[in-house]
Amino acid sequence: MPKRRSLVAANWKMNGSLESIGQLVGAISQGVSQETESEVLICPPFVYISELAGLLEKTDIRLGAQNASHLKSGAFTGEIAPSMLKDFACEYVIVGHSERRTLYGENDMRVAEKFVAVQASGMIPILCIGELLEERESNSTEEVIARQLDAVIELAGIMAFKEAVIAYEPVWAIGTGKTATPEQAQEVHEFIRLRLARHDHETAEGVRILYGGSVKADNAKQLFELADIDGGLIGGASLVADDFLTICHSVR
Ligand code: PGA
Repeated sequence: MPKRRSLVAANWKMNGSLESIGQLVGAISQGVSQETESEVLICPPFVYISELAGLLEKTDIRLGAQNASHLKSGAFTGEIAPSMLKDFACEYVIVGHSERRTLYGENDMRVAEKFVAVQASGMIPILCIGELLEERESNSTEEVIARQLDAVIELAGIMAFKEAVIAYEPVWAIGTGKTATPEQAQEVHEFIRLRLARHDHETAEGVRILYGGSVKADNAKQLFELADIDGGLIGGASLVADDFLTICHSVR
């Protein structure tokens, strides 16, 4: 079984300006080269995708989006179709981020539909799953993760995970400065892999599972060292070039 190549993905969320993203990408791209062991990805706000497609063209950094519609085209004001993202060289699309689930009402089924739509346009979905604080405290973490994962397996089929990435992001750790301990993270990552292995062992071994939730320059290494953690989905720390580069270089 070949080693899984790690992936460090920047999720800029709704931050930046035309000027600031130019500076940030300039600084990040100087620190990433062919020798960088992990794959590096940036997911900017939609309107900056075209600009970034140009800025990243001659670099080793990949481009992605933070969301996409589950539909192809039509009268859906304000929505962006996966094919439009593909037009601008996006290779990855985040689906089911907890902010989409909790603030914009995306349920498991809708997230599964987005996952399928992204793949249908020839891009790789990064499926975010994770439990709320009260779910962890009531010992239902595994139940929640299983439910979120099973919805996608059911709609897309297990083989779809050969061209997908999963991000485990405990909701209580996102933007809070409270990172899961390496043990807590590894436990859930292993659970996710075993859940996939019930359907297909090889697919489960090959899929990259990222950790997200307050990954910082000073805690990335201890998380990325663990057997089932294949990189990170980085919010706040991806807005500071030095911090993000330190994280990119912390992979095993
Ligand atoms: P954070 O965000 O690194 O700021 O916690 C991670 C995410 O939401 O993907």
